[in-house]
Amino acid sequence: MTKVPLLDLKMQYKSIKAEIDRAIGRVLDSQQFIMGPEVEALETEIAPYCGAGFAVGLSSGTDALLVSLMALGVSAGDEVITTPFTFFSTVGSILRLGAVPVFADIEPSTFNIDASQVQKLVTERTRAVIPVHLFGQCSDMEPLLQISQEKGIPLIEDAAQAIGAEYQGKRAGSMGTVGCFSFFPSKNLGAFGDGGLIATNDCELADRIRIIRNQGGNPKHHYRLLGGNFRLDAIQAAVLRVKLQYLDSWSAQRRRNADFYTARLHELGLAEEVAPPQVVRERHVFNQYVVRAKDRDRLAAHLNEKGIGTEVYYPIPAHLQDCLNDGRYRQGVFPVCEAVCNEVLALPIYPELTEEQKEYVVTTIAQFYGK
Ligand SMILES: Cc1ncc(COP(=O)(O)O)c(C=O)c1O
Repeated sequence: MTKVPLLDLKMQYKSIKAEIDRAIGRVLDSQQFIMGPEVEALETEIAPYCGAGFAVGLSSGTDALLVSLMALGVSAGDEVITTPFTFFSTVGSILRLGAVPVFADIEPSTFNIDASQVQKLVTERTRAVIPVHLFGQCSDMEPLLQISQEKGIPLIEDAAQAIGAEYQGKRAGSMGTVGCFSFFPSKNLGAFGDGGLIATNDCELADRIRIIRNQGGNPKHHYRLLGGNFRLDAIQAAVLRVKLQYLDSWSAQRRRNADFYTARLHELGLAEEVAPPQVVRERHVFNQYVVRAKDRDRLAAHLNEKGIGTEVYYPIPAHLQDCLNDGRYRQGVFPVCEAVCNEVLALPIYPELTEEQKEYVVTTIAQFYGK
């Protein structure tokens, strides 16, 4: 029996069931499933939360990335600079447009793109830079914003895991040209299915994104732009509107859980074997609590055996994935990223974890290392 699953959404649902059921009921009564007032209301409510002027609801975080690139005119042969240590959809979205991902290694402290390596990768074909705010902590945006402004290259923040995170007081997804969010159920703000969103302060770009979201028709049945069906469901929007009200308290609880783990790992003398995540940029929203562990695979097997859910985010760097396979990148080119892939392990961090569960996680880790 799993004693501490990596994620358990049932308790969260139970705590807000009446409100959620009412919100879904409202959509069912209206029978308006595509666009309409729930999607509009979510966009109005969430834009200020993300620190942006405009928000456009979309079908997924992946589609938010794809639509961002489409709206910015990225096409075949263009180069897009990003990190090799991410959920593959960041890179897949670039590839789907025939564009070329150009990678920079990551910072060992945050696992995010090493901004100091980006400048030298810029060429006349560079059309965008995509930093990923991995696990809920922002990338080092200042140098990236400087490059973006100096060279006129759009910055697409992949904030899929970082809604509500901050960098120098600014919200994730509000600093670049656009910010992309995911409402995949495991995210801090999770829908009851797939969903995503783009935030931006650029009014014209927001208009273009809205047109692309709906097949590119503007006015209806007139297609100057190529789009697709990238719409957010009304039912998902209704669920997300309820959950948005609780998001800050859930993320604060994730932070408290993270503080507990980090303090206990130090107290138990385990910080050498299991290096806790470093919080370099306030504020971290801990979509994942990812340690660097010695003998990672055996530790994961031990925890699993003891009923504790873990996951490796991510075992293979993007530059070594088969579908890229154009021979540009070989093993060894990004040593930090490649080392990290062999050591990272995500521990359960969801807000509803009990004190007992958290203590069980750390003592089971201590048992593995004989401490
Ligand atoms: C960093 C990152 N980018 C993009 C995505 C894609 O989001 P989605 O699953 O909603 O398509 C995810 C999440 O799954 C993610 O973690």
